[in-house]
Amino acid sequence: MSGTAGETAERVPPDRPALPEEIAELTDPGHREDPYPFLDRLRERSPYRPFDGLVVVGRHAQVSALLRDPAMSSARDRATLAPTPRGPRTRNFLHLDPPEHTRYRRLVAGAFARRQVAGLEPRIRGIAADLIGTAAEAGTLDVVEGLAYPLPLQVICELLGVPFEDRQLLQDWSGILSEALDPPLGAAPQGMTTEAARARAGFVTYFRKLIEERRAAPRDDLISHLVQVEEHGERLDDHDVLATCVLLLNAGHETTVNLIGNAVLALLRHPEQFARLRAAPGRTAPAVVEEVLRYDAPVQMTTRVAREEGAVGGAALHSGDTVLLLLGAANRDPEVYPDPGGFDIGRSPAAPHLSFAAGPHFCLGAGLARLEVAVALELFATLLVRPRLRPDGLAYRPNLNLRGPARLRIDMDDVRPGRVPGARSAAAEGRSHDS
Ligand code: HEM
Repeated sequence: MSGTAGETAERVPPDRPALPEEIAELTDPGHREDPYPFLDRLRERSPYRPFDGLVVVGRHAQVSALLRDPAMSSARDRATLAPTPRGPRTRNFLHLDPPEHTRYRRLVAGAFARRQVAGLEPRIRGIAADLIGTAAEAGTLDVVEGLAYPLPLQVICELLGVPFEDRQLLQDWSGILSEALDPPLGAAPQGMTTEAARARAGFVTYFRKLIEERRAAPRDDLISHLVQVEEHGERLDDHDVLATCVLLLNAGHETTVNLIGNAVLALLRHPEQFARLRAAPGRTAPAVVEEVLRYDAPVQMTTRVAREEGAVGGAALHSGDTVLLLLGAANRDPEVYPDPGGFDIGRSPAAPHLSFAAGPHFCLGAGLARLEVAVALELFATLLVRPRLRPDGLAYRPNLNLRGPARLRIDMDDVRPGRVPGARSAAAEGRSHDS
């Protein structure tokens, strides 16, 4: 993620020179279906300075080292390229550097610890099973609309204590803000900044009200935890709570939806790998998740800003340079992965993929995302009889960074509702937060 909700979108400076061919090809919306040939070219040129202020890095070893390098800042407002002023009060910890970053991250990290996440499994199974179950009535399923979007959204809403009934509102704002996450490369669509600012204002008003309510009457949810939490005599003020809530809500579902979509698509396109999953769904699903993360990264890139003069791969880095880290390209680096464009759930890679980044900002929700997607794929493989992609079933999201299908329609012969492994009905567990 190169930015996140709660920010205003960067504008392309008017004096930006014409885009070099490599970048123009990558940003071309016509190439969303398969950006990998263009990413391969950028990786081969890495490190590459297309114009002053920007350095593009795509080799696995370079990306991995830079993500861990303390000379690389996550405070994007330091960049000479996109000097959009951002008040510190609107920044969330994705944009902070240690030690400030460490303090904020620690306050929420407990909620995403391994044991806490494992405890969510029955609930995640219940929600996923209910969602897939409704497909039985229709005989057809848009995987994005029917499963990939609502599953992580409902889970993060319940964790935070946000009424799921408000999902349409949240979905609209968050969709707009996710487009504003694209790095400052191509021409931004007209009106994006105003639209993103409006969406951000919507989130602010919405969460302010919830925060006030939880201060007055705390519940067993993350918002209540955040308003109450105290460390070394310090508390989070409402601005901090708000920025953290918006970060968690958006990061918690706008990425996972793409991982589910990319995974289902990869399985449908590689029947032999799908057969391996079907042979042992519970045991194999985690390996499928890891290979999809490598093969088709849901977050394709992130940025850092060089704090000082330095170097990468023999090329100079100047203070204030934006360093564009191509996570999706690094995951297909032939120096690390043999047959990098192949989808093979049995691989044991020499180095981990970088889809959750690395270093201090390593995705806080990685464990939760892995569990949600493993459960979704396990149930998908177990319950659906002969699922197949419709001829006109696939359309990609317009985003460059958050990569995944906007539509993924499949047909199936049947759904086996009686065979949900370990599922409890979401309705039966019914945790409503607006009662
Ligand atoms: C497949 C799903 C996901 C992917 C691919 C993903 C990817 C990423 C990446 C690449 C970063 C690092 C960004 C950077 O350093 O610039 C990140 C950070 C983060 N992610 Fe995720 N994420 C996913 C799911 C989630 C979920 C479910 C949550 C949970 C609420 C979450 C919460 C966060 C947070 C809070 C950060 C900021 C961490 C920090 O700055 O210390 N993510 N994620």
